[in-house]
Amino acid sequence: MEVIKFKQIGVSFKGSGSYVPEQILTNEKISQKVDTSDEWIQSRTGISERRISSSGDNVTEMGYKAALSAIKMTNWDIKTIDLIVLATSTPHDLFGSAPSIQAKLGAHNAVAFDLTAACSGFLFALITAAQFLKGGSFKRAIVIGADQLSSFVDWNDRRSCILFGDGAGALAIEATNEFDNFLGFDMRTDGERGSFLNLPTKNNRDSIIDNIDFLKGGFSPINMNGQEVYKFAVREVPIILNNLFRKTKYSSDEVDWLVLHQANQRILDSVGERLKIPREKILSNLAKYGNTSAATIPLVMDEAIRDNRIQQNDIIATSGFGAGLSWGAAIIKWG
Ligand code: ACO
Repeated sequence: MEVIKFKQIGVSFKGSGSYVPEQILTNEKISQKVDTSDEWIQSRTGISERRISSSGDNVTEMGYKAALSAIKMTNWDIKTIDLIVLATSTPHDLFGSAPSIQAKLGAHNAVAFDLTAACSGFLFALITAAQFLKGGSFKRAIVIGADQLSSFVDWNDRRSCILFGDGAGALAIEATNEFDNFLGFDMRTDGERGSFLNLPTKNNRDSIIDNIDFLKGGFSPINMNGQEVYKFAVREVPIILNNLFRKTKYSSDEVDWLVLHQANQRILDSVGERLKIPREKILSNLAKYGNTSAATIPLVMDEAIRDNRIQQNDIIATSGFGAGLSWGAAIIKWG
């Protein structure tokens, strides 16, 4: 039987943090590797450069640094954190990287686990953590999105390698019985369309002893049908957000910030147009970091929180979308 420790009803947003590796890969440099150009990449995606992990900058390290920075924005004693959820598709340890982050933080009283939903991962993790808080089981949670897709990109495939970069972001959230700033959510998957974007295992057959084979672990590089993923995003994201506006009785006019998964500037612009949300309300840092998968939403939010664009009580409509196919949306009030 579930033990109810607290009696909170709502979620409050207390802090944010992020981290990106130092190494910069510009469009110019990619053009030395594959047949592309800065002009093509910028006009088709809005991306100018991205960060690439080198030694030391794995998902555990990046996630730890983002989480620590989010915790520093709160006044929390680290030992009061109950839950750490790490959204990632590229863990440093396939058995899970969140417990290593817990150990590095010294968050000894927290339970920590990984959650995988590709570029929807952060949103799915935030929704998951919020349910634990609203259900009264936990009081304080850190939700991290961190990915290192550079390790799984085919650097000879110009149709996909231009898009991705590495990084991490995190939010600190707390249960409260005074108000609820987690205003609504929805989440969807469609495995029928999963082949549009995947990072499949590559199992080389080997033998243990005579007549007993096994499949050696490993992965093939990212496989993507860019046009189908593009069409999926510009169709489904406005639908899920419009449905959520209806459900929560918020309108797109009341949104201060539209925070979409940073996949392609053209996707951001198109979704904004369909929702009638002007460009100045749409957060974007694609030019600097490209698509950092589960990290994009907390990374772009952290920038906007630290430079005071996002203010207390601002209404944020957010949506993540990507491999699975998976997509989700949430409406939150910052603070
Ligand atoms: N440089 C130069 N030319 C290129 C490049 C490149 N890097 N890539 C493709 N081209 C060429 C193609 O070969 C094609 O040439 P052709 O007409 O002679 O055949 C032409 O450019 C047009 O190709 P399209 O694929 O139609 O280009 P499009 O405008 O669709 O842009 C892109 C491609 C940027 C990949 C776009 O489709 C996109 O962003 N899709 C969404 C992908 C995405 O967001 N994926 C991540 C989702 S999140 C997650 O879960 C990981």
